[in-house]
Amino acid sequence: MSRMDWQSRAGTALHGDIVVPGDKSVSHRALMFGALAEGVTHIRGFLEGEDTRATAAILGKLGVRFETPAPGERVVHGVGLHGLRGTADHLDCGNAGTGMRLLAGLLAGQAFGSTLVGDESLSRRPMRRVTDPLALMGATIDTEDGKPPLRIHAGAKLRGISYRPPVASAQIKSALLLAGLYAEGTTEVIEPHPTRDYTESMLKAFGWPIEYSPGKAKLEGGHRLTAVDVDVPADFSSAAFFIVAACVVPGSHVRIKGVGLNPRRTGLLAALELMGADIAVENERSSGGEDIGDLVVRYRKLHGVALPLDIVPDMIDEFPALFVAAAVAEGMTTIRGAAELRVKESDRIASMANGLKACGVLIDELPDGAMIRGGAIGGGNVDSHGDHRIAMSFAIAGLVASAPISIGDCTNVATSFPGFMELANGLGFNLSVV
Ligand code: S3P
Repeated sequence: MSRMDWQSRAGTALHGDIVVPGDKSVSHRALMFGALAEGVTHIRGFLEGEDTRATAAILGKLGVRFETPAPGERVVHGVGLHGLRGTADHLDCGNAGTGMRLLAGLLAGQAFGSTLVGDESLSRRPMRRVTDPLALMGATIDTEDGKPPLRIHAGAKLRGISYRPPVASAQIKSALLLAGLYAEGTTEVIEPHPTRDYTESMLKAFGWPIEYSPGKAKLEGGHRLTAVDVDVPADFSSAAFFIVAACVVPGSHVRIKGVGLNPRRTGLLAALELMGADIAVENERSSGGEDIGDLVVRYRKLHGVALPLDIVPDMIDEFPALFVAAAVAEGMTTIRGAAELRVKESDRIASMANGLKACGVLIDELPDGAMIRGGAIGGGNVDSHGDHRIAMSFAIAGLVASAPISIGDCTNVATSFPGFMELANGLGFNLSVV
């Protein structure tokens, strides 16, 4: 894929109603459960991003048939729990940590072996967090010193375990629950802090008996999944860029419609409210068991905060955008307890700290967060390190910077947010490809 750079400069106040693309977490899971189910699953609101398309392509190689009646829709012809076919081809997860870690669980107990590979960024990310507990369940998975490729051996006889992951991660939990479908006995995951529960709720919707409550999930192997239609809500993590943008650009008034409001995702709202933001949730309703609503955001001057530690896991993907809010807010914002940011698509603490420093912001990097002195943002050249969320965060910074911000390596925005630039410019951004 060719490299693309962006420039973001001050635009107008942001005004309008928008809909952001479908949720990445839900889209990955809908494909996987649809594939393993008996019957036909219709997915509406599917994220047409590269991450989720990579997962669909992998399941396709394993014998699952998909139809695309329209963009954002998939019809999945489920093959049943034991209906996947092996392939000698490498299974390319692209940039997607979620794809790779969940598929590792799904493939750990198959009769055939598989090799999961990823792009440069994914090839640097830690995989022992899933391969270690999967090995405890009886799987054999070779890594390159804990990193991809993952070579999953054929024919493992899995047994259920009770596992307490050392970090709060929905990806670890989901990998183990997926492996648990194929395991003898009970698989239980007890988390240090509750994480998003889409795997649990979708298993239930697909008819698999599961017991779960925040931070705990438990199931037994040996049941079956029955196809059920899935409506994917708009992705809160994509909405986050426009939430922060409307908070920081004077005069803005934006409505983001039909956004998924799973409580394990919306920590950013709590953080911004502590900073003084004006955000209302309207038209709240439930869709497919998930809370959704419209987010109405109006500009209001923000002030810095010491971010409460318990919010951190509930806003893990939103930190790059929060760094920008903190850089604009009055006073100091302190972020701690967020070391996980260092093992995302890039080292997000370093990527944001270096980029903001290049734009004249006073920021001290900490091992598990940062101290950000808010005030003015200047122009500058920043590198997204191929990380979609870093690129989009600096697009927001450019709106309030005193001179243009050039953002290197923005191609990967398409992994999670196809059409970001057009949507942003329609709202009042001044973003261009250079
Ligand atoms: C995800 C979980 C999170 C998040 C990622 C999507 C998921 O990762 O950062 O973008 O769909 O389960 P961790 O659970 O590893 O923190």
